[in-house]
Amino acid sequence: MATERTFSILKPDATKRNLTGAVNAVIEEAGLRIVGQRRIQMSRAQAETFYEVHKERPFFGELVAFMTSGPVVVQVLEGENAVARYREVMGATNPAQAAEGTIRKKFAQSVGENTVHGSDSAENARIEIAQFFQDGDIAG
Ligand code: CMP
Repeated sequence: MATERTFSILKPDATKRNLTGAVNAVIEEAGLRIVGQRRIQMSRAQAETFYEVHKERPFFGELVAFMTSGPVVVQVLEGENAVARYREVMGATNPAQAAEGTIRKKFAQSVGENTVHGSDSAENARIEIAQFFQDGDIAG
């Protein structure tokens, strides 16, 4: 399996509870390397663009409000099969369904405040990384 990159966000519920180090420890223990990382305040426009695919969903307004409610940490993760590996490490979107040992099982509070985002495909990873990082910001 080839080395690939995925995009990750530590969401406002993680920064608010001072969990960024604890979440990063799970990521690194899972064999994923954090090759890019920045703490930012997402603008409304950035959040709306990022989640455009969900804009017809009933939770879209709530999702944008939450993602702009406090700082987030945007990351580029690298490793073998990184997209699928990170989805495994995050656990199910709804923490009530997340497996033991996953980030969402350990830390997430609800389906909305679910601590982390990870890309769902290599193609979306490239698009999402490009929204928040320039090549010079990533050192693999
Ligand atoms: P994420 O992987 O960031 O991508 C879309 C997000 O929408 C998802 O994580 C959830 O946090 C959020 N989401 C999904 N379903 C709901 C819901 N029913 N209510 C609020 N947020 C949701």
